[in-house]
Amino acid sequence: MSITVLLGAQWGDEGKGRITDALAADADIVARFNGGDNAGHTITIGSRVFKLHLLPAGIFRERCLNLIGNGVVLNPIHFLKERNEIVAAGFPVTPENLQISEAAHVILPGHIALDAAREATQGGIGTTQRGIGFAYSDKAARLGLRAGLMRDPERFAGAVYEHTQRVNRALEREYRRPPLDAQAVADQYAEAARHVAPYLANTFRTLHRALAQGRRVLAEGAQAVMLDIDHGTYPFVTSSNATIGGVLTGLGVPAQAITRVVGMAKAFCTRVGAGPFVTELDGELALRLRGTGANPWDEYGATTGRPRRVGWFDGVALRYAAQMNGLTELALTKLDILTGLDPLRICVAYAYHGAQLEDFPQDSDILAQCRPIYEELPGWQADVRSARSFDDLPAEARAYIARIEALAGVRVTMVSVGPEREQLVVR
Ligand code: GDP
Ligand code: IMO
Ligand code: MG
Repeated sequence: MSITVLLGAQWGDEGKGRITDALAADADIVARFNGGDNAGHTITIGSRVFKLHLLPAGIFRERCLNLIGNGVVLNPIHFLKERNEIVAAGFPVTPENLQISEAAHVILPGHIALDAAREATQGGIGTTQRGIGFAYSDKAARLGLRAGLMRDPERFAGAVYEHTQRVNRALEREYRRPPLDAQAVADQYAEAARHVAPYLANTFRTLHRALAQGRRVLAEGAQAVMLDIDHGTYPFVTSSNATIGGVLTGLGVPAQAITRVVGMAKAFCTRVGAGPFVTELDGELALRLRGTGANPWDEYGATTGRPRRVGWFDGVALRYAAQMNGLTELALTKLDILTGLDPLRICVAYAYHGAQLEDFPQDSDILAQCRPIYEELPGWQADVRSARSFDDLPAEARAYIARIEALAGVRVTMVSVGPEREQLVVR
């Protein structure tokens, strides 16, 4: 049994898609275990840039079986749209290389309408408005629809109709919003169900058979530690477990099967949406890190296009991520973006009302009052994008990486120096 897990160790968008794509070259199965189409995972293949929301990033590898696990919330319409795009680009997406867990939960228009309505109130946190929070609340409240029901489009339509009627009452009474056309929604989703049904499977059985045969499984996380419903900066989080526990519940695999846990971190920090962000920058430096949007890798949300908030590397947050998930290694992306910045700063502790905190506070109110304590490191001027081995990197870049390793207590085994497949240093 051997499962490699890949997790976002910051606020999301660390480059999970691009590293999953790299590791998928040696995997038999790539499985998503959490989240839904709130995720946006970018994979650059030559001149083509793909943004995956639901499909696991193994979809571009010919011999990979891709699984959408029970921990995922799936919007059938968005799934079919994404499937069609990937097929049109020349990559097959068939029941042979993609299975959807019959126990995954379905996202319906009612969830999206409630998400949008809620976001328009004081309680908004800057969600992706994909209905994620409301789909997971229905799951927890035992009101959700599981994907397996799509095998019976008639019954599914009935359940969708009832769900939409229930949501309509909340939309009208609580949010003073117009109701959805329940019959039209039911008809549209029954039709989608017919196209999704062939992909439905018992992914638990698939996974366990594969593990018993010694196949290599890669679990692809969506979102990240700081967006985890339990361990993130609540309430400014998503609604699933993006951390190690989410792998176990979101796929139904035992802890002992996990042999490698790769934490993903960007060489600086970014965050989309509201919530505390201790090392956040503004002004010139922020513009420099974010980019103008002219490059595909500039810091604008892969799902919503929103400009990402940016900041210096946060070593306190990374140590928290390393401890919680038992990271066995780190993959560091976007090192190329730091080229030319001098000096560089890394946050090594937080100042909180005169005290120095070494540990990441789980209380978001405390976190919001923390100020960064920085260490300065010399930057580098040489272009790192053509580096292919660790020794190709400038000494200052190696020192920067070494400081991150010391703070996290975890070795950096992969350094990404550009978005393209070959722009990767494997140590
Ligand atoms: P994910 O959600 O963790 O998969 O990350 P996103 O795809 O949302 O955001 C990462 C962005 O950074 C994408 O546009 C990637 O193409 C890009 N990217 C990843 N690694 C590198 C890198 O090393 N250098 C540069 N310049 N861009 C990168
Ligand atoms: P990937 O997998 C970055 C953020 C949203 C918002 C909060 C809740 O690409 O790293 P939600 O729609 O989930 O209810 O929004 O979580 N968020 C992400 N931020 N990357 C993501 O995914 C995200 N998925 C959700 O911006 O702050
Ligand atoms: Mg993303």
